[in-house]
Amino acid sequence: MKTLVIYFSAEKATTARVAKDAAQLLGAQLYEIKPEIPYTAADLNWRNPLARCNREFFGRKQVPTTGGIENFADYERVLIGFPIWYGCAPLVVSSFCKGYDWTGKTVAAFATSGGSGIGKTAEKLRPFISGGELLNAKLVHSGAELAAWAKELP
Ligand SMILES: Cc1cc2nc3c(=O)[nH]c(=O)nc-3n(C[C@H](O)[C@H](O)[C@H](O)COP(=O)(O)O)c2cc1C
Repeated sequence: MKTLVIYFSAEKATTARVAKDAAQLLGAQLYEIKPEIPYTAADLNWRNPLARCNREFFGRKQVPTTGGIENFADYERVLIGFPIWYGCAPLVVSSFCKGYDWTGKTVAAFATSGGSGIGKTAEKLRPFISGGELLNAKLVHSGAELAAWAKELP
């Protein structure tokens, strides 16, 4: 089955490391979601009410992305990963997902966090995976853990 690992990572490349290691173990292609305007450290300072992350989240803003996936239709399985922000997937991830046709794909989400559990991450992301089947979401700590979970997915 042709697998694509998509990820977004911003602070410390924690999610990037997990995604890259898992893609290598699975022999999967890798794609990074990049916001049109990259996040600076100040943008991510959620302790500042006026920081970009807070303005986007509380303003429910779309966050446009740059680039794109060639031959997206060729992939049957997609793993999509991100850091948990405010208890769910960052808006840049849902904005990205909206731009693609997920028909016929099985999708699983993975996340890293600063301590939160996976919560309702899958439920909240599901509406943006139009036509696809988002099976589940899992909090992961390493590429090996993610690859092992991916191999057991239906
Ligand atoms: C804007 C923002 C919101 C966050 N919200 C949460 C949260 O709700 N729960 C949590 O456990 N961690 C939260 N974090 C921490 C990240 O999920 C955690 O540091 C993650 O592993 C970073 O991954 P990265 O290095 O790939 O960006 C937040 C971080 C940022 C920047």
